[in-house]
Formats: sequence, structure tokens, C-alpha cells
Amino acid sequence: MSRLDSAIRRLQAQRICLNWAVDQIDGEEGIILELGLGNGRSYDHLRKALPGRRIYVFDRNISPHPDCIPPDEDMYLGEMDEMLKAAARDLGPAAILAHADIGYGDPEKSAKNVALIGPLIMPLLRPGAIVISDRALAFPEVEPIALPEGVEEGRYFMQRRL
Ligand SMILES: C[S@@+](CC[C@H](N)C(=O)[O-])C[C@H]1O[C@@H](n2cnc3c(N)ncnc32)[C@H](O)[C@@H]1O
Repeated sequence: MSRLDSAIRRLQAQRICLNWAVDQIDGEEGIILELGLGNGRSYDHLRKALPGRRIYVFDRNISPHPDCIPPDEDMYLGEMDEMLKAAARDLGPAAILAHADIGYGDPEKSAKNVALIGPLIMPLLRPGAIVISDRALAFPEVEPIALPEGVEEGRYFMQRRL
């Protein structure tokens, strides 16, 4: 498979998982966490799919497409581990959905990042909250969710807080 094919499949899987989660949380209270603003594609998708929901965004940079810049008051700008700790103090367990798109090309760097960030999401989650991620996250008190149709195993990951 070419890198182009792989990138397209990853983004298709991301969209399917996000859309699935958007349906699942309909009628449920809670804020949204977008971990990894990048160029703002998935942030833009979520804000369009969930009008009226507060979406807090985490990244060390703000460099998205100019149409996708979050409001200052919804942005945790800095290293994600420190920012997640700050958000847990500010917001408590308020999130019904978290999307973590925080992988790097380098697998070793990526694994370290995910191991650091994963457990810090936990204190922000409401019971029953869904966590969607581009890498497998390992932390207690979550159970994996079966991937929606059209998403290959290992392409994207979903779990639910118990
Ligand atoms: C793959 S991009 C996100 C792409 C985004 N979901 C989109 O649709 O455009 C990952 C982003 O996560 C941020 N990131 C990853 N690890 C981080 C960390 N430990 N602290 C702060 N930002 C981090 C990077 O700066 C980068 O902007």
C-alpha cells in the first residue's frame, strides 16, 4: 500500500470513528476534548458536527488553517501533559468525548508521547465517555469499543470510560 493510500485510509477511519461517536453522545451532557489541533481538520469536523458543544483544544502550537483557529478561551496551548493537568484542575471530569490525534512518524517518539498523555486524559472523562485515538492508549478504567464498520483493526482506536 502506498503512503498516500495509507494516509487516506487513516483519515477515512478517523472520520468514521468521529461520526460514530458524535451519534453516540447525542443527548449526553459533556464537553469535547480535541488533543492535537494540527492543521485543524478534525477540530473543524467536530465543531461542525457538534454545534453548541464546547470543544477544548490542546496543542503546543497554533498553526491550523486560518479558518480553524479555536477561540483563545478554548485553547490549552503548551505541552500536552502539563496542559491536561491544568485542564483537569479547571474542568474536572467533564468530557463526554476525547479525540487524541497525537502520533508522530517516528514510532519510538510516538509510543513515548502516547504513554505520557494517555493516563492524563482519564481525570477529564465523565463515566461512559468515549476516547478515540490514532494510537492505542493504555490506561485503566477504560474498555475497548468495537470499531465501526469500515474501519480496519489497528487503523484507529476507540475506548469507553467505565
Ligand atoms: C497529527 S497532528 C493533529 C492533526 C489534527 N487532528 C488535524 O486533523 O489536523 C498532531 C498534533 O499534536 C500536537 N502534539 C502531539 N504531541 C504533543 C504534546 N506532547 N504536546 C503538545 N502538542 C502535541 C502536535 O503539535 C501536532 O500539531
